[in-house]
Parts: sequence; structure tokens; C-alpha cells
Amino acid sequence: MEILVINGSPKGRNSITLHTCLYLEKKFPQHHFEYLAAGQRIHAYEKDFTPALEALRKAELIVFCYPVYTFLVPSQLHRFIELMKASGEDFSAKAATQVSTSKHFYDITAHRFIKDNCADMGMRCLDGLSADMDDILTPRGQKQARDWMDYVMWQLEGADVAGAGLSPAAKKADKRAVIVTDLTAEDVKLKGMIDRFVEVFPYECDIVNIREFPIQGGCISCFNCAGDGTCAYKDGFPELLRENIHRHDAILYAFRIQDHSMGSRFKMYDDRQFCNGHRTVTMGTPFGYIVEGEYSKEENLRLLLEARAQVGGNFLAGVASDEGDADANIGLLSNTLCFALEHQYCPPQNFLGVGGMKIFRDLIYMMRGLMRADHKFFKSHGQYDFPQKKWRTSWAMYLVGALMRNKKLKAKMGGKMNEGMIGPYEKMLKQ
Ligand SMILES: Cc1cc2nc3c(=O)[nH]c(=O)nc-3n(C[C@H](O)[C@H](O)[C@H](O)COP(=O)(O)O)c2cc1C
Repeated sequence: MEILVINGSPKGRNSITLHTCLYLEKKFPQHHFEYLAAGQRIHAYEKDFTPALEALRKAELIVFCYPVYTFLVPSQLHRFIELMKASGEDFSAKAATQVSTSKHFYDITAHRFIKDNCADMGMRCLDGLSADMDDILTPRGQKQARDWMDYVMWQLEGADVAGAGLSPAAKKADKRAVIVTDLTAEDVKLKGMIDRFVEVFPYECDIVNIREFPIQGGCISCFNCAGDGTCAYKDGFPELLRENIHRHDAILYAFRIQDHSMGSRFKMYDDRQFCNGHRTVTMGTPFGYIVEGEYSKEENLRLLLEARAQVGGNFLAGVASDEGDADANIGLLSNTLCFALEHQYCPPQNFLGVGGMKIFRDLIYMMRGLMRADHKFFKSHGQYDFPQKKWRTSWAMYLVGALMRNKKLKAKMGGKMNEGMIGPYEKMLKQ
């Protein structure tokens, strides 16, 4: 595949983000990577956009590669997109995606900006990779980058629709999904959608109907569970969660949209999960939703489903609604869940996940005397990622800060700061 990386960082070759793409180029030698220094050479492209247009014409996949700058992309990349639009060129046959690095502060608005602008240009824009600045230096971050690339290629090859709608001859036995629903006798349509999913999904599915489970009531905030997770209710709900639902390899929820949410029964289900406090007990388990109703119009519900997956460390494999072709939507969800299960796909958390967990981290640390179960979990899972524990980085920053305050040294260093910062990334590429 001809891949064009539009490097939106004004740091050019010294861009940290670019090094994720350079890493992927090494790991995927079957594809051909070209690079455009859009961020660094924007004034040249303003004068003559022809070289950029030629590169864009050749590309099959356009990768917007940029640092998040103040909620969005750098102004240079913003300008480059303006130039793309002003060129009058038809980009609708192209696919696009994005790679960003940042500290995840509002990376979501930057990614949405790229998606919306790709949509303006008629391009199909696949979900991007939003990495932390340091991710590519770690084995975990490198795996996430490779998996993401596989996921992009898998989608481009059409695997997302291939086989959708075909019932597998026999169910595979090594994984099992659960569909949690609040079905009533009147829910004919939703029941049909669930049946359809069970039919096309190649693994076994269990169904848990929370309408039938005798939940005694909603959470009453008694904090009985704070010490050891024991709920004051004795209705078997925590056991249903821990010994049944959470033991599955994938968790799906099936509901009809009601009052702009999943309905009050599901709200009771969610609140009662407080018996697990703030512990991300299903971390790594992919999620999916089967939804009856006009999901695309429910902005708040969409944010909620994404945020829930993000904070829990779950990959949201998709939301199949009955808007448009319900069977095709369900087929796509089934296939994407299979991809996630078979690749253990778990991309980095974005602002919703990272930001949400920082709030919980601070809260649990402060309340550790009371919330013993959460405290133990956060400690054992390394979720107390207080920056003050990174002594080496802190001291290195003091040193660089002192050097930068010295006028003579600063003048001597010139623009060498970025060259210094990129050292570990260059080393990683060589290794
Ligand atoms: C002007 C400016 C604005 C920034 N804004 C954000 C931001 O909104 N969110 C964030 O998480 N990081 C922000 N950052 C940090 C960069 O996104 C981060 O350092 C990035 O990894 C740099 O990538 P690069 O080396 O490819 O340019 C900002 C940095 C600069 C210089």
C-alpha cells in the first residue's frame, strides 16, 4: 500500500510523533511510506502546493501525523488542510487515518477535528492512534502501535464486512461472549437483533436478562462495599457480575434507547457496579453494544458509551444500531469483536480514559483509609502513577531548566533542544 505520512509537527525530522510512523515503516516493510514535512515547510506549500498534491495523488492511505497542540492540531497542519481543500482536488477515493502524540490532554478533540475535515473532503477516515509522547519507547506502546496498524490494514482490506451475515458452520469453543440485556416481552425488534448477533458471531454467547434477575434496588451509597467489596444487598447481584458476566471474553449490552439513555433498569445495573468501586476489573475485555433507536442523534449517549469503555480500559468494538442496515451493522460488530478477541486489541486510552483515571487516582489515594479494596487494586495495578515518583525525569528537567536559564549556554545550545529530546527515539529506531 502507498502510504503518505503528512508530518504536521513543526519540528520536522525531530518530531516524536513522526518516530511512531518511522517505527511502523520498519515493522511493515510490505508497505511503501512517503513523508511530507507539512508542519515544517508550510510556507513553501503555501507558495506552491503542487509537490504536495502530487504526493497526495499517489497515496492510497493518508496518515495525518501530528502532535496535539492546544486542543487541536498545530496551526501549520490546519493550514495544510485548508490548502488541501482549496486545491479543489477530489480526495474521495482516498482512505485516511491519524497518528498523534501528546499527554492526552484533549486528544479527542484533535482526532475529531481530523475526522470531520476528512469527511468534508469525502475521505473515509479510520480510527487513529493517540499515543502518549513516551509510548513508542516502551514494549507496550510498540505493540499498541503495531496492533493499530494491523487493525487499520484489516479494515482497509474489507475484513470488516467480509463474512458479515454468514452464519458460521460451528461455533468456536475457546472464547465466550455475554450479552447483557433488559429485554421485555414487547422488545420484538431488539430480540431480533440479539438473535441475529448470536447467529453470526462465531463464538458461543450467553445471555443475561437483567429484567428477569431479581435486583432488589439501586445503589444506596451505604459504603458497605468500600472495605472488601461486600454489597449490603443480598440479592446475588455482585456474584452475577463477578462469577458470570465478568468472566466472559467479550461483553455486549443490548438495549433500546429510552429517555436518551439505556433506560432506568440498566442505570440500576450500572450503579450497583459500585460494589466493585473504581476498580477496572474488566480491563482488556472488549465491549460492544446492540442498540435499537436513533443512536446517531444521541450525542450524550455516544460520549457516555465511549467514556465508559475508555475509563475501564476496554476496547469499544462497535455499536450496532438498527439505523440503516441493521444486519450489516451487526455483522460489522461481530467481525470487529472477533478481531479484538483474536489480537487482544487494546489501544492506548485517550483523554476520556487517562483524564478519568487521574481523577479516580487522586480520589482513591485521598480516601484510601476508607476505600481499602480500591486502594489495594490501584496499588497492585500501578494505577498510582503520580508523576513525582519519576525522580530521574524530574531531576533531568531541573538540569535542563538550569541550563536554559543561563543566557550564554542557551545561546550556545541554539535550537539543539529538540535534537536532544529525539535521541532516545532515534536509538529505539536503530535497535
Ligand atoms: C504549542 C503546544 C501546544 C500543546 N498542546 C497540547 C495539548 O493540548 N494537549 C497535550 O496533551 N499536549 C499538548 N502539547 C504537547 C505535545 O502534543 C507533545 O509534546 C507532542 O508529543 C510533541 O510531538 P512532536 O515532537 O511530534 O511535535 C503541546 C505542545 C505545544 C508546543
